[in-house]
Amino acid sequence: MRASTFALALFSSLGSASAVGLLGFCLGATHADGTCKSQNDFELDFAALKPYTNTVRIYSLSDCNTLQNILPALKTSEFKILLGIWPTDDSHFAAEIAAMKKYLPMYGVNNIIGITIGSEVLYRKDLTVDALAARINTVKSSLAALGFGGVKIGTADSWNILITDAVRPVIEVSDLLLVNAFSYWQGEAPADMAHSFVDVSDIAQSKTFIESVKGNSTGFDFYVGETGWPSEGAAFQSATCNLSIAASYWQTAICGIRKWGINVFVFEAFDEPGKPSATSDTGVQVEGVEGHWGVFTVDRKAKYNLTC
Ligand SMILES: *[C@@H]1O[C@H](CO)[C@@H](O)[C@H](O)[C@H]1NC(C)=O
Ligand SMILES: *[C@@H]1O[C@H](CO)[C@@H](O)[C@H](O)[C@H]1NC(C)=O
Repeated sequence: MRASTFALALFSSLGSASAVGLLGFCLGATHADGTCKSQNDFELDFAALKPYTNTVRIYSLSDCNTLQNILPALKTSEFKILLGIWPTDDSHFAAEIAAMKKYLPMYGVNNIIGITIGSEVLYRKDLTVDALAARINTVKSSLAALGFGGVKIGTADSWNILITDAVRPVIEVSDLLLVNAFSYWQGEAPADMAHSFVDVSDIAQSKTFIESVKGNSTGFDFYVGETGWPSEGAAFQSATCNLSIAASYWQTAICGIRKWGINVFVFEAFDEPGKPSATSDTGVQVEGVEGHWGVFTVDRKAKYNLTC
């Protein structure tokens, strides 16, 4: 059904739509040439984002020494962060835990709104459901041992993964979940992009499913973990892109879902022109979009009006 009424019924049960959802940005840890961002680079990133938000999300702690560099930048810029731990192989996971144990006690957790263990790990089949749930529990115990047991832990995955019974064990151990949804990668025409994201399927379905598993548990946090629209590059099926379509996605999809009280991390803050071309679910190589998901240019200028 074609249905704002559907969304209305659904989201009105999710608590009052009075509070606007949080806006945050997904943040890369490298420059276009692949070199790592320093503390100062993160401070410049935060200064550019400050008029719009004070919250970002990252994907790894040990790669590029990101945790070491970003924690002091968060303090000086008064930003908050959703940290990410990359869990997919043993040695990388061990390096992530080691970075967490070394740097969190130095800076504390006041700027940390949670930690995701993996991003689209189940979608890519990098880990089984049980292995990911075990990794989440491992991080929980490590944090508790550091005296930071109150930090919320969970994962991020694609909306079509987080609506399946098979992933219940991961949902059950998570204090927060991030759901990723890209109308672009679903090949939606610009006329249907916001409708697909907000109303029909993606976010509404996964939020309903997750809440059916979590029941009455209080203190559980739901976020859109990644969404956005590229400002240039090739079309994917009916999904075309240019600057005005990206600006329209911001207004209709991102502002739209926030008005329902849903927290959103936008993918992504700044263009990453060094990224290779992407391959769709269906194996189609799509040229020219991966470097252009930024809401801001690589020079940290907003590409379009971000007022909701
Ligand atoms: C939540 O708890 C209330 C009170 O205990 C109960 O009536 C209600 O059925 C519960 N709802 C869910 C979804 O578990
Ligand atoms: C963007 O694409 C749309 C749909 O194809 C088109 O109507 C519009 O004129 C384009 N805008 C720009 C700035 O190229």
